[in-house]
Amino acid sequence: MDGSRTDDTRKAHLEIGGESYDLPIHSPSEGPDVVDIRKLYAQAGVFTYDPGFTSTASCDSAITYIDGDAGVLLHRGYPIDQLAQKSHYLEVCYLLLYGELPTGAQLEDFTQRVTMHTMLHEQMHYFFRGFRRDAHPMAIMVGVVGAMAAFYHDSTDINDPWQREVASIRMIAKMPTIAAMAYKYSIGQPFVYPQNDLDYASNFLQMCFSVPSAQYQVDPILARAMDRIFTLHADHEQNASTSTVRLASSSGANPFACIAAGIACLWGPAHGGANQACLEMLREIGTVDRIPEFIARAKDKNDPFRLMGFGHRVYKNFDPRATVMKESADEVLDLLGVEDNDTLKVAKELEKQALDDPYFAEKKLFPNVDFYSGIILEAMGFPTSMFTPIFALSRTVGWISQWKEQLSDPAMKIGRPRQLYTGPSQRDYVDVENR
Ligand code: ACO
Repeated sequence: MDGSRTDDTRKAHLEIGGESYDLPIHSPSEGPDVVDIRKLYAQAGVFTYDPGFTSTASCDSAITYIDGDAGVLLHRGYPIDQLAQKSHYLEVCYLLLYGELPTGAQLEDFTQRVTMHTMLHEQMHYFFRGFRRDAHPMAIMVGVVGAMAAFYHDSTDINDPWQREVASIRMIAKMPTIAAMAYKYSIGQPFVYPQNDLDYASNFLQMCFSVPSAQYQVDPILARAMDRIFTLHADHEQNASTSTVRLASSSGANPFACIAAGIACLWGPAHGGANQACLEMLREIGTVDRIPEFIARAKDKNDPFRLMGFGHRVYKNFDPRATVMKESADEVLDLLGVEDNDTLKVAKELEKQALDDPYFAEKKLFPNVDFYSGIILEAMGFPTSMFTPIFALSRTVGWISQWKEQLSDPAMKIGRPRQLYTGPSQRDYVDVENR
């Protein structure tokens, strides 16, 4: 376990039925100590119980660190606000993948490698056409990314470091093309090919918004805001979709299948689907006078409704990404001259009323990154159905970095959680006529 120490002088003691067990304690480079229970079942014959993995470290990782109480997010040690202000998405991709900030020459080489892989195999265009016109772009992304294994056979061998590298670059390069094609398909416009003289974010915007019949000029401020959205979503340690990628990969599945699994998990409204759900909620609220009604519903134990874009499993004081995203939202809305429309008015007032409400303060619920990203994306002209695909394309580098790290970890095992069985004990089969 690189970067962590095992303190032989300290052990955790566990007593079960009069027997005592000593469990090793590992100290990470940052964050709370970790009690190692790997031998617990063999020694004591018991499992631990932790639905939702709220207290369980599933792996060791040197990529991303979060201190949820302090509102800290570090990629390879660098704070997210510094990266969002001073760096850009492809540089952050390099950092996540290879562990250090690139030199000028390394960055140029990396950018060139990504840029040369932006086009999709031409035959994949026919694959897109098999989807219903009204398919959700996330459904298309799950299918198309999974299908890459059928188009790029030469990068599916996970035991070959060169193939792993090619698969990684291909997915980072092609994900914007896939997301943009899913969008174009859903609105009945022709696919737009990537343009390799544009930077990563500008290229995505032109693939989404240009049409063959008109000139399209990417606004650099919008490109910068887009790049920042990519950067802020690039990785987030062992969240649900990343853990899904790691679990899928632990069986030796091919890289495209693993990332498709991550996209499927991200789609859920409690995770990446929250930015779409948040905008839809703001529209459903509609006008400022209805906010108290929705806040009351969010507080009502008997109502499953939650304020979308509020709360986080790990951040319990503020989400550092939300702070940068809020600044970006102001910049973009200013640039586009967006007046306070109803959605925006509702968003601002909802944030204010919820933050003033003791229920939300007590439970440490505040706006997360998704609360603001939806507002920016809508102002840029994206429909809500594209919000989660944009999150997926941004997170691809995080999934891939974690996937590569896991594959080179000698302690890697197939993921196989245990369970607390609550079903019937063994009983004999009863013939149908006797039931
Ligand atoms: N609105 C109202 N109440 C909430 C909300 C919310 N958005 N979030 C949590 N709570 C309440 C719960 O009802 C619970 O109350 P209780 O203690 O009285 O039972 C308490 O706060 C703790 O909630 P949990 O669900 O246990 O917290 P958890 O850490 O498991 O959930 C989650 C985190 C899933 C993000 C949750 O806050 C939520 O559903 N938020 C809305 C969806 C959302 O915005 N997701 C985006 C996450 S960020 C991302 O993926 C990039």
